[in-house]
Amino acid sequence: MAKIVLLEKIHASAADYLHEHGFTDVQQIPTALSGNSLIDALAEADAVGIRSATHIAAEALTMLPQLRAIGCFCIGTNQVDLTAATAFGVPVFNAPFSNTRSVAELVIAEAILLLRRIPEKNARAHRGYWDKVAKGAYEVRNKVLGIIGYGNIGSQVGILAESVGMRVCYFDIESKLPLGNAKPLKSMEELLRQADVLTFHVPGGAATEKLLTMERLALMKPRAVVINASRGKVVDIDALNQTVREGMIAGAALDVFPSEPANEKEEFISPLRSLDNVILTPHIGGSTEEAQENIGREVAEKLARFLKSGTTRSSVNFPEVPHTDKPVKSRVLHVHKNEPGVIARLNAEFANNGLNIVAQQLQTRGAIGYAVTDVDGEVSPELRAKLCSASAVIRCYLV
Ligand code: NAI
Repeated sequence: MAKIVLLEKIHASAADYLHEHGFTDVQQIPTALSGNSLIDALAEADAVGIRSATHIAAEALTMLPQLRAIGCFCIGTNQVDLTAATAFGVPVFNAPFSNTRSVAELVIAEAILLLRRIPEKNARAHRGYWDKVAKGAYEVRNKVLGIIGYGNIGSQVGILAESVGMRVCYFDIESKLPLGNAKPLKSMEELLRQADVLTFHVPGGAATEKLLTMERLALMKPRAVVINASRGKVVDIDALNQTVREGMIAGAALDVFPSEPANEKEEFISPLRSLDNVILTPHIGGSTEEAQENIGREVAEKLARFLKSGTTRSSVNFPEVPHTDKPVKSRVLHVHKNEPGVIARLNAEFANNGLNIVAQQLQTRGAIGYAVTDVDGEVSPELRAKLCSASAVIRCYLV
């Protein structure tokens, strides 16, 4: 049975899932590891689970030839050298959807709080001032929620917003199926003009940097508010600071920032600090107990399915082969360079050894190909060794 090492206090749901699915050798190490400690800890591991603090570079992969899969129990996978992992034939899995609901709930809560002017009233009450006025405080019912980026999180925010009576519009660069009564708009500018609450749910990167500029902020209604729980650089923070200070918009809630402290010892610096009508949270949109539990289960399931049957569905770096049960004696997982003749040679070896192919799935992605082959007999150690050492083969093993 495969050995799995889980680092960095991964939620207990992961080990529970693995135990329930027959993996008895699951070792848990509470800290992140690096250098020789990492290599020593993973020397016999078939799979490793990490969060964001353990880095797996090409050198580590070279020294861990038996490592078959990496599970990132988080959303991001920057901590793994994905190019190297692919070249070594190691699929990397993550949990892209497990905290979607957590982010969506925070956005709805912030929309309600901002439209009611709660952040200012709360701050004033803390300072002893009884600001009991209705002026400028609105219900969210019938207000327009403008979503920029209607993907997993954006569409979930839309569904929740409708349940509290908001009218949902969105702008996405791709055409997306509108859920509920959500209305797609043709341009971001149109959305900015209509929105009472504007919320960003786009990916990071150069293409989405400073999507919200001074010119675009100037299109918004003075009583509108802006929420960003996507990536810090999506909003021009100086422009936002100026518009809030000048009363061009009524407030904002930010969970992500162009530059964020690396840890709790570093001071959080932002021009928006001290503004009572701005909610600032330390990138915790997806940080809930439920999300951690979901992440534990989601990635554990992906690792378990890969180790048991070779499934690579939703791997971030690998050709995707969907799940199928293993109805026969032997299933051969074959990772190879994506070049002509490899599958012909593989299948010829099966035929030469009297093995009938019952099913075969092949997918390629960039430089690598991945074939999962079910054969109706025993694959001998000699044949396995031959398959592993054939030209263009990166990895080959039986499950
Ligand atoms: P997704 O990939 O499912 O959706 C992104 C959507 O944005 C896609 O529909 C895409 O077509 C659209 N898009 C891309 N460029 C666009 C543009 N220029 N204008 C309009 N639409 C554009 O991503 P998901 O899972 O919904 O995540 C959204 C963001 O939330 C990501 O940046 C992610 O890093 C962030 N996030 C933040 C968390 C937090 O703790 N605050 C937790 C989880 C995710």
